[in-house]
Amino acid sequence: MSVHPAPSAAPFTNEPLLDTFGRVADDLRLSVTDRCNFRCTYCMPAEGLKWLPKDEILSFEELARLLRLFVRLGVRSVKVTGGEPTVRADLPSLVAMLREAAPGVDMSMTTNGVLLDRLARPLADSGLDRVTVSLDSLLRHRFEEMTRRDALDRVLAGIRAAEDAGLVPIKINCVVIGGTNEDEVVEFARWSREHGHAVRFIEYMPLDAEHAWERAKVVPSARILEAIDAVYPLVADGPDHEPATSYRFADGSAGGVGVIASVTEPFCDSCNRLRITAEGQLRACLFALDESDLRTPMRSGAVDEDLEELIRSNVWAKWSGHRINHPDFVQPERSMSAIGG
Ligand code: 5AD
Ligand code: SF4
Repeated sequence: MSVHPAPSAAPFTNEPLLDTFGRVADDLRLSVTDRCNFRCTYCMPAEGLKWLPKDEILSFEELARLLRLFVRLGVRSVKVTGGEPTVRADLPSLVAMLREAAPGVDMSMTTNGVLLDRLARPLADSGLDRVTVSLDSLLRHRFEEMTRRDALDRVLAGIRAAEDAGLVPIKINCVVIGGTNEDEVVEFARWSREHGHAVRFIEYMPLDAEHAWERAKVVPSARILEAIDAVYPLVADGPDHEPATSYRFADGSAGGVGVIASVTEPFCDSCNRLRITAEGQLRACLFALDESDLRTPMRSGAVDEDLEELIRSNVWAKWSGHRINHPDFVQPERSMSAIGG
């Protein structure tokens, strides 16, 4: 005879998080703050952005609870994001709690890198596996123009610190904007060969706070690959579970390049991502126009089964894909920093 009482709510089914198009969501991006110490032009306005008050941000305990639940629902990798995650006070303690909640998952962080010189080691000690660092220019003045901060050297030092702390493999995210940094893609490939970190070129998406995005500023990934291949011949890597298409160097050199062609070659059909904003809104798509509030139920006594129901119905209702290339496209109100890359 079983000594366990019958569950009062629907039991966990252990079914993966499925949508009506048959996609399985198993990659979670967890935003831990909406704040940032940079002001990248393609993301934030120069000034005037209002931060969320502290009590609207998920606590460490709430973040860990959600992660534990999502892992039970099949999530296999988690990315800590922001805003800029490293500006969240006591991030290493949070990462330790997340690691405890999700011992087996791949845990990485997307960061602008400027605080990594101090934080790489404590984060690695807390159980973070690896980092992705945003780096849009290798030229000091252009870096400053794009991020509105004169911080190239500190970011490069941060990348070195991450390497020393074993937060590898390090990936570099480079948002390519026509007329701004397009001329640097071959130099980035050379840098990748020298340092061994793969560089992923991201097409500029309409997620900027100032709504200044224009299609004319999107540099097609195919053009980027062509430019690099002409100087450093490339070989396609086998398909992986990523929106980035990756390439090795044909001569066997270290490093590599990848492209994230969100605009010219959308990969929505195979999207496996979910996002939770810093204030606990679940978004099944970067461009989603509706979200599910997980914070309010959590703070009014919801049990995990209640949250599971909300999560499953949000994922189930996920649309087929973003509408950037359709005349009815509406830019979401949130900019990238308020969603979490
Ligand atoms: N288009 C493309 N990429 C963007 N990012 C931020 N805003 C945009 C945008 N409008 C990138 C950041 C970071 C990643 C999470 O998203 O540079 O590397
Ligand atoms: Fe900050 Fe990242 Fe946005 Fe730049 S892209 S302003 S580093 S959140």
